[in-house]
Amino acid sequence: MRDLAMVHDGAILARDGRVVAVGRRAEVEQLGTTSAKVVDAGGRIVLPGFVDAHTHPVFAGTRADEFEERVGGATYAAIAERGGGIRATVRRTRAASEAELLKSARHYAGWFLRGGTTTIEAKSGYGLSLESETKILRVIRQLGAKGRLRTVPTFLGAHEVPDEYRGRREAYADAVIHEMLPCVTSEHLAAFCDVFCEPNVFPRAEARRIVEAARELGLGIRIHADQFSSDEGSLLAAETKAATADHLERTSTAGLEALWAAGVQPVLLPASVYQLGSSHYPAARRMIELGLAVVLATDFNPGSSPTASMPMVLSIACTHMKMMPAEAIVAATINAAYSLRRGAEIGSLEPGKLADFAIHDCDDYRELAYFFGRETAWKVFIGGTEVMPDGVEEGKSGWRQ
Ligand code: NIG
Ligand code: FE
Repeated sequence: MRDLAMVHDGAILARDGRVVAVGRRAEVEQLGTTSAKVVDAGGRIVLPGFVDAHTHPVFAGTRADEFEERVGGATYAAIAERGGGIRATVRRTRAASEAELLKSARHYAGWFLRGGTTTIEAKSGYGLSLESETKILRVIRQLGAKGRLRTVPTFLGAHEVPDEYRGRREAYADAVIHEMLPCVTSEHLAAFCDVFCEPNVFPRAEARRIVEAARELGLGIRIHADQFSSDEGSLLAAETKAATADHLERTSTAGLEALWAAGVQPVLLPASVYQLGSSHYPAARRMIELGLAVVLATDFNPGSSPTASMPMVLSIACTHMKMMPAEAIVAATINAAYSLRRGAEIGSLEPGKLADFAIHDCDDYRELAYFFGRETAWKVFIGGTEVMPDGVEEGKSGWRQ
């Protein structure tokens, strides 16, 4: 993970949206025709677009009010218990139209692009009913269909037990399994299924039922695991051979070894630890030492992680989890791409792969994590087309519901 395969004074030749050649400028220049459009990066660094493998980008409203309460001492769990948290966002998202949600999601898509992200995994999970979950997944599809930010959709119907099913978790899991999953898969609305596995949300046995049903219908599996309690989620991910186990703030060595043995990739979300004011970061060094192909992602959502910035995530990963800057870049690109089963198409700049890349306003790759709190992308290309700065939705007004 420390080997970035850097090319100094390099160039890329792209044609029809794909990389044709990568190498020293003098060699690549000879391959281009006279009609080729030349983009001079001006000595800046060029990286594969970040692949943000864990986001929740479709929701209505914000939770700035809860943020203020948490700053004042309230806990995330206590706010969720009294009906705030995810359920507060669910009420607002159910009330919003598809067009309103698409408008806000496009606004946030601009934030991802500004950080140099070109693909996001995008979860539903603020609908928690057949109608609202499919509404969100259709928004995710339209977000990607615009030919800007690429999206990989994940169905997260088991994000929380909604108000109308309080105390009837099993009945809600039945609705996820028998009503939502068949509809989501028959309409090809998702590539993966995710479950928030926690003893007081979806405990392991309940989560396993949902995971097995999703697997049966052909979906890949990602699990919100061990964010607040140890090993329920990581053991479920290992047992069910999930693609990823995400969060892992509380995972023990036994849990990590189970992930390694089952070939599950850890997706670390240090911005959510930061935002919740915790210092309980996942054991990234231990995971890398074990040989796990660690992934870094934003977890962009209105509660625990309201950031779309991969450069910010890289900064926190280096300062608080002691990942080397090169390891953080690998975790945010090629490892993330493989976790989404897209490793052959995105995540690195190699001939035949999609020409998704960002030119960052830095002289040295380490500056990405060193300067923090700024967006570093100067220009961003998706499929060889410049999408930033030109293509970013400005959305100065009217995008909020
Ligand atoms: O990954 N923990 C569950 N889901 C999100 C939080 C969602 C929210 O607070 O709205 C997470 O942190
Ligand atoms: Fe999440």
